[in-house]
Amino acid sequence: MASPGSADLVIVANRLPVDRVEEPDGAPGWRRSPGGLVSALEPVLRANDGVWIGWPGGTEQDLEPFQDDGMSLVPMTMTAAEIEEFYEGFSNATLWPLYHDVVAKPEFHREWWDAYVTVNRRFADKAAEVAAENATVWVHDYQLQLVPAMLRELRPDLRIGFYLHIPFPPAELFQQLPWRRQLLEGLLGADLVGFQLNGAAQNFIRLVRQRVGHKTHRDLVYLPDGRTVRAAAFPISIDAASYETLARSEEVGQRAKEIREAVGNPRKIFLGVDRLDYTKGIYARLRAFGELIADGEFDVSDAVFVQVATPSREQVEQYRILRDDIDRLVGRINGDLGRIGQPAIHYLHSSYPREEMAAFFRAADIMVVTPLRDGMNLIAKEYVACRYEDDGALVLSEFAGAADELRQAWLINPYDINGMKLALREAYAADEREVTKRMKAMRKTVLQHDVSAWAESFLGELASVRPSHGKTVRPAKRS
Ligand code: F6P
Repeated sequence: MASPGSADLVIVANRLPVDRVEEPDGAPGWRRSPGGLVSALEPVLRANDGVWIGWPGGTEQDLEPFQDDGMSLVPMTMTAAEIEEFYEGFSNATLWPLYHDVVAKPEFHREWWDAYVTVNRRFADKAAEVAAENATVWVHDYQLQLVPAMLRELRPDLRIGFYLHIPFPPAELFQQLPWRRQLLEGLLGADLVGFQLNGAAQNFIRLVRQRVGHKTHRDLVYLPDGRTVRAAAFPISIDAASYETLARSEEVGQRAKEIREAVGNPRKIFLGVDRLDYTKGIYARLRAFGELIADGEFDVSDAVFVQVATPSREQVEQYRILRDDIDRLVGRINGDLGRIGQPAIHYLHSSYPREEMAAFFRAADIMVVTPLRDGMNLIAKEYVACRYEDDGALVLSEFAGAADELRQAWLINPYDINGMKLALREAYAADEREVTKRMKAMRKTVLQHDVSAWAESFLGELASVRPSHGKTVRPAKRS
């Protein structure tokens, strides 16, 4: 067993909450990393006084553990080849599309897998080094699915949780993976494996039974060594109260007014906010909006679309293709349908701080969230949290995890452009009473089930001791 460190709670995620960047004057600095995982986990780390192990982006090799804004961060290194093969390759060109309903074709390369194993081992070694005796280690997301088993081997004293932020696919898709068994066994190193939705947990249990051959009962897996692993749903959320406070602030209110003025004070502002990712359904959503203008349903002085697309994974080919496609589509819609000083779509390829995002959410009458597949989609919840006056409409894909909780949204199938057009028209025309009724109900859900409730329920379940199951179970079969 490796000798213990001193941290009682260790969060292990591919990315640190801050990215290493070069400031305009050339000096190195830090910037908040994109994505829902960081926004969800940051408050958890602060509340529990833990340590976060992750990659700060880039290839810098000699970064020491440091404190940032009250958080203890342990940076992991990655070589240029590992970024290409582990991060861009296996994580984001194999697992990402495979786990998102193969909306893009996953690529399988043996050298990418080798890099995945190497980097996962490095993270497991580091977690083994910093965790105190009997500490809790919480491993996150698809980039690190081998870490639980690797870590358990080094440190059997630890309590290990794993949480998958993205969907977990049905067996029919997962079994395409040449390394399916190794990934399942990696996850089974955890005591508790958390998913966004019940269906994902069931997919996992079924795969463990079929592909690894372990005995399962409901949400439990009985391992031959006596350990029990539980797989269950813990729908993730946001720090809703802090978003509401931000939205209520004078500065944000003022900035929201400025945004409305800057886009010409139309009757209604539609808003999309996404990482620029092909799973988010940005293309179809903008097409639907463009068609509504072309059909004469909306006029550009009455309705504008603001699309914020945060740059993401720009070295991965599918993301480059998507960026070009969206650039072309926005250009065509604005060229065909815009007027001077009145484009139909305001397209911003950029990331913004939380305050500016809260101002966008305050300014927008209709939030449009239309992923083809999404683990949860925290943007939808952030919008709801910011609408403290119970106004604002949410158009939401049925295929986002958030649709399970936000039933009062205008739910759409993102593959059905006509259905999406209808929902956009309905949300545009809905009377105030209807909008308020729906938003009130959604706000109740989001404010009650916030990120601290999520973390408490996961960590509480992880802490509950599960004695040896005492059953005689057959050894796992090979497949
Ligand atoms: O959960 C989705 C996720 O991949 C997170 O793991 C990640 O932090 C976020 O999206 C942003 O992606 P990336 O780290 O590849 O920029």
